[in-house]
Amino acid sequence: MVIKQTEAWGTRVGLILAMAGNAVGLGNFLRFPVQAVNNGGGAFIIPYLVCFLLMGIPLLWIEWSMGRYGGRSGNHSTPFILDNMTKRAFWKYFGVFGIFTNIAVAAYYCYIESWTMSYVWHSLQGTFVGLSQTEVAQFFTNYVDIGQSSTGIPYEAVVFYIACLALNTFILSRGLRGVERAAQIGMPLLILFGAFLAFKGLTLGTSGATAEVPDASAWDGLNFLWTPQYDSLANPKVWLAAAGQIFFTLSVGMGTIHCYAAYVRSKDDIALNALTSGFTNEFVEVVLGSLIVVPIAAGYLGMDWVKENAGFGMAFQTMPFLFEKWGPVLSTMAGVMWFGLLFFAGITSSLAMGTPWMGFMRDEFGWGRNKGAITFGLVVLALGLPTVFFFQYGVFDEYDYWAGTVSLVVFALAETILFAWIFGVHRGWDELKRGADIELPVIYRPIIKYVTPAMLSVVFLGSLFTPVGNEWQDAFASLFAGNGWQLDDSSLVNMVANTGLNKQIAAAIDVEQLQQLKDRKFYTNMARALLSLTFLGLCALVYVAGLRRARNEQNTTNA
Ligand code: TRP
Repeated sequence: MVIKQTEAWGTRVGLILAMAGNAVGLGNFLRFPVQAVNNGGGAFIIPYLVCFLLMGIPLLWIEWSMGRYGGRSGNHSTPFILDNMTKRAFWKYFGVFGIFTNIAVAAYYCYIESWTMSYVWHSLQGTFVGLSQTEVAQFFTNYVDIGQSSTGIPYEAVVFYIACLALNTFILSRGLRGVERAAQIGMPLLILFGAFLAFKGLTLGTSGATAEVPDASAWDGLNFLWTPQYDSLANPKVWLAAAGQIFFTLSVGMGTIHCYAAYVRSKDDIALNALTSGFTNEFVEVVLGSLIVVPIAAGYLGMDWVKENAGFGMAFQTMPFLFEKWGPVLSTMAGVMWFGLLFFAGITSSLAMGTPWMGFMRDEFGWGRNKGAITFGLVVLALGLPTVFFFQYGVFDEYDYWAGTVSLVVFALAETILFAWIFGVHRGWDELKRGADIELPVIYRPIIKYVTPAMLSVVFLGSLFTPVGNEWQDAFASLFAGNGWQLDDSSLVNMVANTGLNKQIAAAIDVEQLQQLKDRKFYTNMARALLSLTFLGLCALVYVAGLRRARNEQNTTNA
């Protein structure tokens, strides 16, 4: 086999910043606080940290090892990184997940990223000055309701979406250097902006209380998040949510880390680098991510309001209004910093999502950077426009569920089994240790072999068979009483069957509602069809690449 080391990272700091930039994303600021609030605040943190230690760190090490190992034989994307580790041909199709997830997630992720661009612009323009809380919230609703746009430019959401994709495509066309530069600029600014806003969150205290909301207190927000509660430890719902958050935030189970790690030189450290970027992500998530939205919102609107309204609307619908209370100069600055921070968090992640596709097309079909970047931009545009135009019909949520949640667990489970059981934990561990700048804790060897795959299996089964109302104790009681297991509509099994939607359709009270629900079902199915087609298209490319490889090998042996 030809060993070709095509590209490599410029510096170690650049690599760590790029990896941290990949992990630090919208998930840290939009998803984490919402998950934490919805799952009982202090009750969420312990399962979250346990998942980080027992699934997050092992998966980081597994993926970095697989990536650098693959890169050594010229493979920069998961289909052939996996293929290279086994004799069985089907594994490369599991590897398709590692390209698919990135493209499908990029489609809706870049849409949120484009909102942040637009909101930086509107903060500078002073669009939110003097608006009431309802008006600021309405601004967002109009923004995403295509056709109804009252924000000035019709189809503003589409314009920013395309601009955002164009920017991503441009940076990607500069190759690894471009990605590294973006991280070198974006990450420090993100930390700076985050630190400023976190300082405001920490010092707000009860100064935001008013006659209408006399008990508003930022401290309530912090206490809610940081007072550990042990009773929820036995609640699988909280564990599933914690595991899901760890996946999303660390970018594991996605194929992105493999790709980045494939550009690490084969003698360079991965053990410490993986930990450094992982802990950087946790710092940004747990410290900065919990010191901004929740305390600021609780400080002005009260913790009860936050509990009722937790959702990612808070970031776009509420924050610009609350910033206005800080006076003209500070509110503009805060708006620019908040949405600027989200923008940097987003772009360093969406750039990462472009690299597996580019690496694959380069390795297998000799495509250059420009061709790789432009085709990535176009495919994402084609998949993404439905999320923009049919946002109201749930296309966005559908992508997030299948590509941003289910795929990650499936792929992580598959790769862990491959790494620990087929490739073998001995070889895997040696691979991880090669060039390591730290002494690895040996306890992680059995963890990688037994604990991580077991936990992943539980997470997968838990999502497959989520019981009614996510009430596990009741479900087991019912099972043992001989009454069977009632699935919740959010379980994977019922999601596939569209059970929840069908029930709603059957219960529709008037023609108008019926039509709405039917439209929703239509767009949901269309979204699934698009995702499936993308997946199958990638499988076909991997198949063709496999044939080409076989042919090349024959030619070399014949010669
Ligand atoms: N970790 C990122 C966040 O917290 C999301 C992310 C980065 C991602 N790379 C990805 C999601 C690749 C899916 C696929 O926001």
